[in-house]
Amino acid sequence: VIRVPVPLGERAYDVVVGAGVRKLLPECLPPRAERVAVVTQAGIPAEVEPGCPSETFVIGDGEAAKSLATVAELTGGFARMGLTRADAVVGLGGGLVTDVAGFAAAAYHRGVPVVHVPTTLLGMVDAAIGGKTGVNLPEGKNLVGAFWQPAAVLCDTDLLATLPEREWRSGYGELAKYHFLTGEDLEALGLEERIARAAAIKANFVAADEREAIGGRRALLNYGHTLAHALEVCGRHDLRHGEAVGIGLVFAAELAHDLGRIDAGRVARHREVVAGYGLATEIPVALDRDEVLVLMARDKKAIGGIRFVLDAPAGLEVVPVPGDVVASTLARLGA
Ligand SMILES: NC(=O)c1ccc[n+]([C@@H]2O[C@H](COP(=O)([O-])OP(=O)(O)OC[C@H]3O[C@@H](n4cnc5c(N)ncnc54)[C@H](O)[C@@H]3O)[C@@H](O)[C@H]2O)c1
Repeated sequence: VIRVPVPLGERAYDVVVGAGVRKLLPECLPPRAERVAVVTQAGIPAEVEPGCPSETFVIGDGEAAKSLATVAELTGGFARMGLTRADAVVGLGGGLVTDVAGFAAAAYHRGVPVVHVPTTLLGMVDAAIGGKTGVNLPEGKNLVGAFWQPAAVLCDTDLLATLPEREWRSGYGELAKYHFLTGEDLEALGLEERIARAAAIKANFVAADEREAIGGRRALLNYGHTLAHALEVCGRHDLRHGEAVGIGLVFAAELAHDLGRIDAGRVARHREVVAGYGLATEIPVALDRDEVLVLMARDKKAIGGIRFVLDAPAGLEVVPVPGDVVASTLARLGA
């Protein structure tokens, strides 16, 4: 079992990684908790034992269930079971469940404690850590939310036994990203150590810039995401988030190379890491270059042009890139 501290002062907590760590749930709950609301999904074959009376709320699958309507249902249920601020919510699921459960916990009674038990690799290395919670609107993804740090994150690697192949790939895309955030070698690590190391890297970025200030370090966690979001939003490519991030990482490296920031060897390293996780490195052939450019300009980080997180010998930084340079790299790569 590996304990990774997320050093956030009075909001500090641990991410605990290892086989069977969901059994630590009772000791992660507030000492006087009398009831627990467990939020999960029907397709997730995991269970937790909070050690006090609990009620389970099953929410829908897919991004359409990540909605204000689901939050209204959940918080209504919390009220009917008599959940108080001395009690707790538990998010047992992938990033969708922990985002929704976290936001419902942030909003109910203006904030009740939440413990996340992520059941996807993506949840363990990314979504359950760092306190970003929220839901989608018909107008766009993750448009309503709150920063609400969990009281603990229990990454029980036993729960990955049932994870579908496609969801592994999605988590691998985010894991690939961590290889480039600090320059350290993650390849030597086994799965448990790698998850813990990724959690620690994320924890450090979050601790340095909890609320993603303009120009702050947390934005660097979006490495590979500018093209990835555009690929996901245009919706024609049937890519899971991490699969899109894998392609986005390689594209960001190629773009940095075209801008003279990194050499060909560094680009090759990006391709090697992404391919090493069994992920595609090539831009989908059917990609519409003009559509993707418009979508990237609309990205929430597109303050004054298309902003990319780009690599350089001194490390990653957020850089505005002229549209014509992005277009020419896309064209060179066959889009
Ligand atoms: N808050 C953040 O910082 C953050 C970061 C990244 C992503 N996210 C959000 O996370 C969501 C994506 O999360 P995800 O990739 O985990 O997908 P997901 O939560 O939608 O889960 C994917 C599928 O796997 C199933 N599943 C989950 N665990 C399983 C298990 N152990 N066995 C079998 N099936 C299982 C789910 O029921 C679902 O059908 C998105 O909504 C995204 O916006 C949030």
